Amino acid sequence: MALRARTPHLLAALAGAVALLLPGAVEARVLLSLDDFGAVGDGIANDTQAFVDAWKAACATGGTTYLNVPAGKSYQIWPVTLAGPCRGEIKLMISGNIIAPEEPEDWSDGDQGRWLHFWGVGDLSLSGGGIVDGRGQQWWAGSCEDENCTSYRPYEVAPMALHFEDCRDVSVKGITVQNSQRQHLVFTRCHDVEAYYLRVTSPEYSHGTVGVLVVSSTDVHIKHDLFSVGWRLRVDRGQLLGYPAESHLVRTWPRHQHWRFGRETK
Ligand SMILES: *[C@@H]1O[C@H](CO)[C@@H](O)[C@H](O)[C@H]1NC(C)=O
Ligand SMILES: *[C@@H]1O[C@H](CO)[C@@H](O)[C@H](O)[C@H]1NC(C)=O
Repeated sequence: MALRARTPHLLAALAGAVALLLPGAVEARVLLSLDDFGAVGDGIANDTQAFVDAWKAACATGGTTYLNVPAGKSYQIWPVTLAGPCRGEIKLMISGNIIAPEEPEDWSDGDQGRWLHFWGVGDLSLSGGGIVDGRGQQWWAGSCEDENCTSYRPYEVAPMALHFEDCRDVSVKGITVQNSQRQHLVFTRCHDVEAYYLRVTSPEYSHGTVGVLVVSSTDVHIKHDLFSVGWRLRVDRGQLLGYPAESHLVRTWPRHQHWRFGRETK
């Protein structure tokens, strides 16, 4: 693959970034789009570098930065870590699709266990009505859980689709997270989390998929979501405050059970 000219994209994007100063407001708002950074969004191209560049630009901007993943497009993203701390608040608006590469071979040794990894970020929100699709079919086919597993890739190393680690003030609302290779959403050592109005789904044969895994985190609020995943929801060494929540519907394959966590608060 030819070397891509990244810097011109970055400069063009920053020059083109729309800075709005709301009347009476002190805080600037900046609007960025993945496309400003050279992303193609055809579901085939490798848009990873554009995503990384866009993240870096958003992270370096103070105030509130909206980073848009445009609707009607599919951005194929290889495993990435999007790290903080950032100067301001980032609102990642996922209106289109973010898709994973389909082949497990696309994960190198250093990438094991991660796909979209947010690390050390505060004041981050994901919303926008779009889809994050792990396209985990080949991972599920290669998985097995029994003691004599001879799979070339034991299920433990399959990636977490959205992993938030050492984050605070995270909000994930109104998006679909589907077909994760393993866990759809993971919060590790996170504080003040809201995961509302999510659709988290993978098919019946997606053995081992997990809806949400919460590890060593506090103030995690998970409400009004629809889970329909291969295996289960898990909380390990986590503390969920305000949980269970009202109208929280969980369906796990294969028994098509409808679980409602704890008491209802209608
Ligand atoms: C896609 O781009 C990322 C970032 O530049 C790179 O790490 C990865 O190896 C690329 N994948 C392929 C298959 O070229
Ligand atoms: C695993 O292999 C051992 C030894 O061959 C056998 O006794 C055992 O039943 C196997 N376990 C499963 C789950 O197949």
